[in-house]
Amino acid sequence: MKLLSARGPLTGTIYVPGDKSISHRSIMFGALAEGKTTVANFLRADDCLGTIRLFRELGVTIEDNNDEITVEGVGWTGLKRPNSILDVGNSGTTIRLMMGVLAGQPFHTSLTGDASIQKRPMNRVILPLKEMGAQISGYENSEFPPIEINPVTSLKPISYHIPVASAQVKSALLFAALQADGETILIEKEVTRNHTEDMIKQFGGSIEVEGKKIKLTGPQQFKAQHVVVPGDISSAAFFIVAGLIIPNSHIQIKNVGLSETRTGIIDVVRAMGGHIEISDIDTKNQSGTIDVWSSKLYSVIIEGDIIPRLIDEIPIIALLATQATGQTIIRDAEELKVKETDRITAVATELTKLGIKIEGTADGLIIEGNQTIHGGQVTSYGDHRMGMMLQIAALLTDESIELSQSEAVSVSFPTFFDVLQELMEAQ
Ligand code: S3P
Repeated sequence: MKLLSARGPLTGTIYVPGDKSISHRSIMFGALAEGKTTVANFLRADDCLGTIRLFRELGVTIEDNNDEITVEGVGWTGLKRPNSILDVGNSGTTIRLMMGVLAGQPFHTSLTGDASIQKRPMNRVILPLKEMGAQISGYENSEFPPIEINPVTSLKPISYHIPVASAQVKSALLFAALQADGETILIEKEVTRNHTEDMIKQFGGSIEVEGKKIKLTGPQQFKAQHVVVPGDISSAAFFIVAGLIIPNSHIQIKNVGLSETRTGIIDVVRAMGGHIEISDIDTKNQSGTIDVWSSKLYSVIIEGDIIPRLIDEIPIIALLATQATGQTIIRDAEELKVKETDRITAVATELTKLGIKIEGTADGLIIEGNQTIHGGQVTSYGDHRMGMMLQIAALLTDESIELSQSEAVSVSFPTFFDVLQELMEAQ
C-alpha cells in the first residue's frame, strides 16, 4: 500500500486498543479459573483472537457480546483434548504460554503457527519444561513448531535461572509451576513484564516476587474475575513518537497501560529531552493519560535493564533517534533477532532504503541523528511493529513510500491507520 505522507501537525485526543499481553492472559486465566470471567477492552486483533480460538478448541465457552468477552472457566482439569492441531497464527505469546499450560495436561496436543512462528526458538521453554517432567518436543527433535505435547499425570516444581530476559518464558514456566506439586523458584536474567504475576494475584492465587526472584507453590486454583484491559503502551508508542517528531503536534492518548515493567519508552523520551506528560493515573488499573508535544531531541544510549521495559518499542525508538541530534546507540537487545522477524536487520535495512544512516550490530543498532527521510519501497516482513514504524516514518517526507505486507498491522492494532487519519483530519 502507499503510505500516508507528510501533511502538517498531528493534533487531537485518541485511544489505542487494549494491551496485547494482558488480553492474552485474561483469556488464559479466565479459562483456567472456576466461574465466569468478564473482560472489558479486550484487544480484538489477530493475535488475541487466536488465543480465544485455541481455548474454544480446548472446550472452553467464550463469547463476545461486543461490549465484553465472557469466558466460562473450566479450571485446570476441565480442558478437553482438541480435535486438531492448535494454530497460534503469528503469536509467540500464545504458543509459549500455552506450552506451559498444556505441558501438565493428561491429553496430547500439537501447537503450530505461521511461517514466522515456525522459525522462532522454543528450546527456551521446552528445556525447562522437560526438567519439570513435561513430555514435549519440537518438530523432528528440533526446537521449532509444530510442538508435540504428550500427556502426563503430574509435573515437578523447578529451581531455574532463566537464561534469556523473556516474559514469555517466565510465564510459560509459571503456568507449569501452577500445576506442579511444590515450590518453584525462578530467577530472571532481567525483570520483564509482570502481567502474569499480577494476574495470578488478581485471580486469587499467590506468588512472591523480590526483584528478579520469583517463588510460587503449586498446585493453585483460580476464581473468575472481571478484567479491565488498559490501552497498549506498545501501540501508543507509535503516536508518542509521531507527536514528538512531526512539527507543531500535540497528541493526547487516554487510558494507556503504565505498568512499571512497560514504561521504558517514557524514560527514554524524557532522557532525549522530549516533552511528555502523564496524568489521570489510575493506580488500580495501572493506566493513565499520556500527552506529547513536538520537541527538540538529543541522542541517548539505551542499554541494560531498561531493554525488557521497551523491547517491543525499539523499532519506533530507532525512528525517533533519526530525528534527534547526535548518535543513538542501542545495546543488549539481541532478543530483537528472534521477534516476529529479526528486528535488528529489518529496522536497519528498511530505514537505510529510506536514506537513513543506521547500522545493525550483534545486539542492537547505531543510529545517526538529524536525518532526512526519503521515499522508497519498503516491507514490514510480515511484522506488525515494522509496518507501523514505517508508516510513521512516511509522515516525515512528501516523497512516496510504498509498503508491502502492510496487513501485518492487524496482528496488534487493526485500527492503526484509522486512528492516524483521525489525527490528520483533526487539524
Ligand atoms: C510478551 C513478551 C515479550 C514481547 C511480546 C509479548 C508477553 O516477548 O516481546 O510482544 O506477552 O509476554 P519475550 O518474552 O520473548 O521477550
